[in-house]
Amino acid sequence: MTKPLTKDDYRPDDVTVHRDPARLNRVVRALRNAGRNVALVPTMGALHAGHRQLIREAKVMQNTVVVVSIFVNPLQFGANEDLDSYPRQFESDVDICREERVGLVFAPSAEDMYPGGSAQVTVHPGPLGDELEGASRPGHFAGVLTVVSKLFNIVQPTFAVFGQKDYQQLQLIHRMARDLNFPLDVVGVPTVREPDGLALSSRNAYLTPEQRQHAVTLSAALTAGAHVSAQGADAVLKAAHDVLAQTPEVRLDYLELRGPDLGPAPENGDARLLVAARVGATRLIDNIAVLLGEGDE
Ligand code: PAF
Repeated sequence: MTKPLTKDDYRPDDVTVHRDPARLNRVVRALRNAGRNVALVPTMGALHAGHRQLIREAKVMQNTVVVVSIFVNPLQFGANEDLDSYPRQFESDVDICREERVGLVFAPSAEDMYPGGSAQVTVHPGPLGDELEGASRPGHFAGVLTVVSKLFNIVQPTFAVFGQKDYQQLQLIHRMARDLNFPLDVVGVPTVREPDGLALSSRNAYLTPEQRQHAVTLSAALTAGAHVSAQGADAVLKAAHDVLAQTPEVRLDYLELRGPDLGPAPENGDARLLVAARVGATRLIDNIAVLLGEGDE
């Protein structure tokens, strides 16, 4: 028999950590039945100022209980990627959630999320899942969309908040929510940056001080491209490549100009400039909005 919910399952004055998906699901359903909005902020932990911004955006809507999920999802890491070394700092993550007045932390184990060790049924991201990040990281977006759809089903949020730093991920989650009829809003939040422009990322922790200096080249290249956007796509790409070429320690994976939904870039109007590169062993990504030509005709 399932245990009834108690006041320890949700304390309005402190963060409550849940590990069991079924129990968390009962808590959020009770909150929604009581008229509360539920906002989901999915994370892999190692929380930083960018995550704080996602939490703050989640709290903008009145009467909202924020659920931060902390789960390093094995399904989205390739065989040669950093699953084992990915930064894990659960206690300080919970402290940050407490400081930000998060209501619930959902921190399941891998066995809770993938009973038996692997997912047999997964979400197929479609053709966009094989481009840009997907070309370098086969299977990555199937892993992301599978865990995000599980989190949507467990947490049943009114809305879910993601960073624009992972722009392709955000676009794919928008598409998944639309194509699979998840009854929630997906909200994208602008990238938080260091004062010199480097986009905040949990993976920045891998950089040595020297690599950290080189890493700023990614955002500098994007900004240089955006500055000449009125001259069109070729000028944007050239300006960004020129900046990247000045720092050979930054090994470019791709620099691409696309439409806002990651289809082909228009000649005039809104577009997105995206970059991925390795600095030492660390793979970094970034992107920026650009307005090509004179804007919409
Ligand atoms: O952006 C991330 O941190 C992860 O890809 C996400 C959305 C939490 C899924 O594991």
